[in-house]
Amino acid sequence: MFEALQPLPQDPILQLMQTFREDDRPDKVDLGIGVYKDDAGNTPIMAAVHEAERRLLEGETTKSYVGPAGSTGFNSAMAELILGSNSPLVRDGRVSVIQTPGGCGALRMAAEFLRLCKADTKVWVSTPTWANHLPLLGGAGLTIREYPYLNPETLQVDFGAMLETLERADAGDVVLLHGCCHNPSGADLSLAQWQEVTSLIQRKGLLPFVDMAYQGLGEGLDADAAGLRHLASAVPEMLIAASCSKNFGLYRERTGALALVSETATVNAAATSQLLSVIRSHYSMPPAHGASIVETILGDDDLRAQWQQELNGMCERILHLRHAFAGALSSFGDFEFIARQRGMFSFLGISPEQVGRLRKEHGIYMLESSRVNVAGLNDHVLPQVASALREVLGK
Ligand code: LMR
Repeated sequence: MFEALQPLPQDPILQLMQTFREDDRPDKVDLGIGVYKDDAGNTPIMAAVHEAERRLLEGETTKSYVGPAGSTGFNSAMAELILGSNSPLVRDGRVSVIQTPGGCGALRMAAEFLRLCKADTKVWVSTPTWANHLPLLGGAGLTIREYPYLNPETLQVDFGAMLETLERADAGDVVLLHGCCHNPSGADLSLAQWQEVTSLIQRKGLLPFVDMAYQGLGEGLDADAAGLRHLASAVPEMLIAASCSKNFGLYRERTGALALVSETATVNAAATSQLLSVIRSHYSMPPAHGASIVETILGDDDLRAQWQQELNGMCERILHLRHAFAGALSSFGDFEFIARQRGMFSFLGISPEQVGRLRKEHGIYMLESSRVNVAGLNDHVLPQVASALREVLGK
């Protein structure tokens, strides 16, 4: 059965993570995979997470099954985090939130659910988008279509081209949007642009699907969700995949949520029962630990305040690095867009060959597309990265 199988290359992001780990140069710099790093280049466990874990270790009384939907406490806390407090969708029973194994679990279960709703579902994704969106959605049998998002020359959103292409979508098609901190470009829609996209979605009867993987790391928890919340207030149906990997630093604990918005509470109950059956037939139920941490933090005023303060610190540090990076590169090029973009990622707009030279000659790692994780920088390595970049650009 297995003899005919050919080896596959690793996912490029994960491959880069491994190559970096195997590089023994002491001054190597990792701007590859999207994990937050502090000034010392570490990805520490947040203090609020540590404290929640301590409480869980002492207070947890059972390891019995949680069920396919996960913890109700986590799910309602996530509904509030994503949709805001006092959301009419929650009040009217129009939304269900389901705990999932990371944002990937949410994306894949949503895709499986969409295929169940309509076997020939088309999903429109931005060009570019996070590379793993394609196997996560396409692997479930959805047909992938692309809408232009980033102008490769200016590295800014090409909103006109985006709208023009989405005008060609058919009623019932799904549109995948990044809630904030667009991965890989860092170029986000303004609130006015979210409003225009919302009108188009309403007028054409499209189904919005928002991937919210970086809430709190762009401009703040509420500001980052403003576009998503506007959309949610206007459309009859919607899907949202949320991740706690970055904003709680829970990467390996695989903690996320899938929100399903329906036109009425009755429709929502039926749709949710179908979604739970999809989940049962895939992984049965989600792992508990990460979600218990999030539930403990969001359910306790002090811990929540501590977490929010830590998250704000991460967000401010990324904004600081964006300005410092654009400043450090300004003597040999116009990189001002880096300061205007949000979240962990930006493209440098350099060639794969130049990316290769940065890695080989200078030990500086980024994706071949020139996507850098700005959060991997610090004031100490900035001059090193700037001078290496200047050299490979021949300036
Ligand atoms: C990234 O884009 O680097 C992150 O979302 C990590 C991943 O799993 O690819």
